[in-house]
Amino acid sequence: MRLYYKINTYGCQMNVHESEKIAGLLEGMGYSPCPEGEHADVIVFNTCCIRDTAERRALGNIGVTKAEKKRNPNVVIAVVGCMPQQDGAGEAIRQKYPYVDIVLGTRNISRLPDEIRRVLSSAQRRKSEGGKRYRGIDLQLPPDYLSTDESTPTVRTSYPNAWVNIIYGCNNFCTYCVVPYVRGRELSRSMTNVLDEVKRCVDDGYKEVTLLGQNVNSYGNDLSDGTNFAKLLHEIDKLDGKFRVRFMTSHPKDLTEAVMDEMASSSKICSNLHLPIQSGSDKVLKDMNRRYDRDRYLCLIEALRSRMPDIGITTDIMVGFPTETEEDFLDTMDIVRRVRFSNAFTFIYSPRKGTPAAKMEQIPYAIKQERISRLIKQQNAITKQLSDLYTGGVFEVLCEDVAPKFDNMVCGRTDSGRLVTFEGEPSDIGKFFNVRITASKSASLFGHKEEK
Ligand code: 5AD
Ligand code: SF4
Repeated sequence: MRLYYKINTYGCQMNVHESEKIAGLLEGMGYSPCPEGEHADVIVFNTCCIRDTAERRALGNIGVTKAEKKRNPNVVIAVVGCMPQQDGAGEAIRQKYPYVDIVLGTRNISRLPDEIRRVLSSAQRRKSEGGKRYRGIDLQLPPDYLSTDESTPTVRTSYPNAWVNIIYGCNNFCTYCVVPYVRGRELSRSMTNVLDEVKRCVDDGYKEVTLLGQNVNSYGNDLSDGTNFAKLLHEIDKLDGKFRVRFMTSHPKDLTEAVMDEMASSSKICSNLHLPIQSGSDKVLKDMNRRYDRDRYLCLIEALRSRMPDIGITTDIMVGFPTETEEDFLDTMDIVRRVRFSNAFTFIYSPRKGTPAAKMEQIPYAIKQERISRLIKQQNAITKQLSDLYTGGVFEVLCEDVAPKFDNMVCGRTDSGRLVTFEGEPSDIGKFFNVRITASKSASLFGHKEEK
């Protein structure tokens, strides 16, 4: 009889990649991915807690597994990652959801196989000898995390892109953000290990590598051997093979000239940067502890565009931070008009327990909502204008997937990160095409393959 697993992933790319490691661990135990319509024997929730909405979504779905446990008392249910790692949250989950067997934090995922075995053997014993079913919890942030992480197997699920982690944790403590509390301090992987992994991905046929970290620009700071992010990019660029390199996320305070130079001179590193601005108000940026101001951000944009005129720059923007007045919000609207981002991810500020901003006096929700809708409307118009500039041009596109909404169509991205949909078939996935852009619709472009 085959045993199946199902992983429900919430949150950022880091979590998507960590779920690939969870899949590696479970497949190592003999479990297979659960086909549609079958019941899983292990259900994992890899959670996020960056905003209240992310938490509520996960909690709702964890609640649904109560019925699954009733149907099959042997199913093992695990809640892992950021959500239980918050102060007191792991215990609260255990109490509120008695059918959850295992709770693991952000740096304990490699413990999952052992924990599953203990749950299963305690269930066996309980049948024959009575006693309690084992329930596991581990929320330590072990300092030797990197050594266990290096030996965790990975089942990659996003061909032709491969996620490669370069740094874990965050030292920045932006006042709104829960990440430093749940992911611990920065830990950089060694350059040799990162390069080996990138090489392996390319040898295995991956055509794009995305380097991951909460703040990739801090890469190497904790290694004290002179390693830094620019040097890492330089070494990756020297590797053989045709493949693309992207990275996320960059912090404006740490983006160096050397990194911009590497991006500009490299043939592999895409002209594409995600550079979260969060706010356009100097006062709010200060209250957020972002450690840059609007002038510094605008200088960075100029420095990037003078080196790479066609660079695609995306950002994260938050509205409704406790100290944000209408005037501060208008500063954000203004900087968004000046920079002209190719796309912006916009968020309503969500108070996170234990962070400094959560203790400040909060803005009414209706005001936040009204601000975000003004911001989205303005950014949509900019995104559309920038998309229109692509029409008529020919761009190299890596085919990444079948188009979700259209028959006989595929999709991929330009070097600058724009999504393009064009005619094609599943066998095109993983190949590069020159695509002529014939139409644009908000952030998406449409085109057809050019004869080579
Ligand atoms: N509320 C809303 N958005 C947040 N982000 C981080 N913390 C919060 C919060 N408490 C946003 C930031 C960050 C992105 C990943 O999530 O914009 O860049
Ligand atoms: Fe959070 Fe700031 Fe760290 Fe990003 S840099 S993870 S926003 S604390």
